[in-house]
Parts: sequence; C-alpha cells; structure tokens
Amino acid sequence: MKTIRVAIDGPSGAGKSTLARAAAGELGYLYVDTGAIYRTVGYYACVRGMNPKDGEAVAAALPEISVEMTYGEDGLQRMLLNGEDVTEAIRLPEISLCASAVSAHPGVRAFLLEMQRKLAREHNVIMDGRDIGTVVLPDAEVKVFLTASPEARARRRCLELEGRGTPQPYEKVLEEIQERDWNDTHRSIAPLRQAEDAVLLDTTDLDFQESREALLAILRERTNGA
Ligand code: DC
Repeated sequence: MKTIRVAIDGPSGAGKSTLARAAAGELGYLYVDTGAIYRTVGYYACVRGMNPKDGEAVAAALPEISVEMTYGEDGLQRMLLNGEDVTEAIRLPEISLCASAVSAHPGVRAFLLEMQRKLAREHNVIMDGRDIGTVVLPDAEVKVFLTASPEARARRRCLELEGRGTPQPYEKVLEEIQERDWNDTHRSIAPLRQAEDAVLLDTTDLDFQESREALLAILRERTNGA
C-alpha cells in the first residue's frame, strides 16, 4: 500500500502537536510526535546524570537504550524507554533542553531515523518535528512549516503550564523558547528550516479553531481528500 505522508515542521510551541493530532483525528491518519522520541533519549541522558551536550557520552549510551512508540486504547502515542512508560516524565520542562541538546548529535539522529521512516511506510501519517520535510520524509506528499512569533508561542506555553498547575513567568518561558529556537536552527545536522516545497502556516494571529481550519484546508487540497 502506498501511504500518504504529511510532514509538519516548525519551532517549539508553534502548536504543531495539538494541531497535527487534531488533523490526524479528522483525516484518520496516524499522528507521530517525533519530539517525544528525542525527549525519551534526553530523559535517559539526564536521569543517568550525563551532560546531554556531551556527544561522545550520549553516543556511547545509545546501545543501552531501547525506544519504542506504542498507541494506547485512547489512540494516543506512548513512549517506552527500555520497557518503562515515560510518556508523562518526558514532558517535564527540564527535559525540553535535554532533548534539544541530545538532538544535536548525529549519532542520536541516525539512531532514531529508521524508526520514523518505518512508521511512515506502514501507515498514513501526520508526523511532526523539526526535520521531517527536509530529512526524514523528503518525499512527503504534503509539507507544512508551522510557525508563530516567539512572543505568541511563549504566551500559549504560559497558558498551557498554568493549566497543568505548573505556572512559569512569561520572561523565563520566552527566554527558553528563544534558546531552543537557537539550538534547533543552528545545529550542524538536520537544523530546523522550512523545506523549499513546504507551505508556510503562521498562526501568530490565529486562534486554535482558525489554525485547525487553515491546516485542514492545506491538507485536503494537497491530498485531494484521500
Ligand atoms: O517537539 P518537542 O519540543 O517535543 O521536541 C523536543 C526537542 O527535540 C526539540 O528541541 C528539538 C528536538 N527535535 C528534533 O531535533 N527533531 C525532531 N524531528 C523533533 C524534535
């Protein structure tokens, strides 16, 4: 079966996962959050007390790491690290920078590449990340670069953290977003950038419903409703 592959890339906090999940539900595609697999490796490095920026130490640990992605009865993606469910643990704010740091190492990216491609061979997917349209699925049928201003992303992230009962000051959140943007766009391997054939969707001035409609319109047009 020839699968349909939708690649959604963009910076942290642009709403990729919420929008991609909603669109996947609407179209009946499998939603794959690739950030979660980098978070799982970052989590492993950090709980083991490694410096996540130390490429040699992280690469040496890869043979000890088994990362698996499964889907719960609710259809939501769950992450297993050496058999242990770390789905919630990898969302802790301190893991974000660990994930960003380990994701800069070529060995880590190579280690996780085939797992992502295999999912896209077996299912119609909406896959979100930083390099899906440029590296993981360069032949994807649809590519979207989803972005918003750093300030809009920081405001949304503050609301999300508040909702989870872990509020953080706006300035701190904005600074962390800017640091991750810098890391993700300046690394030498697979940096975040818009693929030439990607459609740009800027949600700075759109609310969730408007963003969802805009994304679905792009996907429907490009997949001819498939
Ligand atoms: O999407 P996220 O914030 O959960 O991703 C966590 C980190 O993983 C992010 O800072 C960059 C990295 N990442 C990546 O390098 N490539 C991807 N395809 C997805 C995420």
